[in-house]
Amino acid sequence: MRKILILLGSQSDLTITEKGQEILREFKIPYELRIASAHRSPALVEELLQAFEKQGGKVVVCVAGMSAHLAGVVASQTNLPVLAVPVANAATAGLDALLSMSQMPAGIPVATMTLGKAGFTNAALFAIQIIATYEADLAVELLRYRQVQATEVLSSDNKNRVIFEG
Ligand code: RP5
Repeated sequence: MRKILILLGSQSDLTITEKGQEILREFKIPYELRIASAHRSPALVEELLQAFEKQGGKVVVCVAGMSAHLAGVVASQTNLPVLAVPVANAATAGLDALLSMSQMPAGIPVATMTLGKAGFTNAALFAIQIIATYEADLAVELLRYRQVQATEVLSSDNKNRVIFEG
């Protein structure tokens, strides 16, 4: 059973997903990634969502740029949690997508992450956190992941700290 469905509005959005996909694989989370646009292939979006719900999927992650309607359209069709990741474009640096995704009218929530790679990485981790609310083993692994991260920060602090006392 695939637990996460990742929808990208375009193949051009793929570049931001590398690290997040790595994390999902590290945590051994079954997922499906598909290119399906709210504007260019709305029927495919609906079809993928229905199939994902039917097979027991848990979280949908939508990645899109420009007017970025994908997450809102998906959220309007499902009760599953929908996470959104805006993608930057040259003209507006992604502010259009960020505002479009985060400005959902009351009643149909979308959890919007920050732009680009960091946003997709956090969407992957957030999706794992949602699944970890009912899979205890996963919660333990998430704790370990954070410990490793903290150790890395400590080590860069050890290497780079500066104390200047005048
Ligand atoms: C959105 O339009 C996509 O999510 C993409 O970020 C943006 C541009 O798409 P392409 O013209 O690169 O296919 O639908």
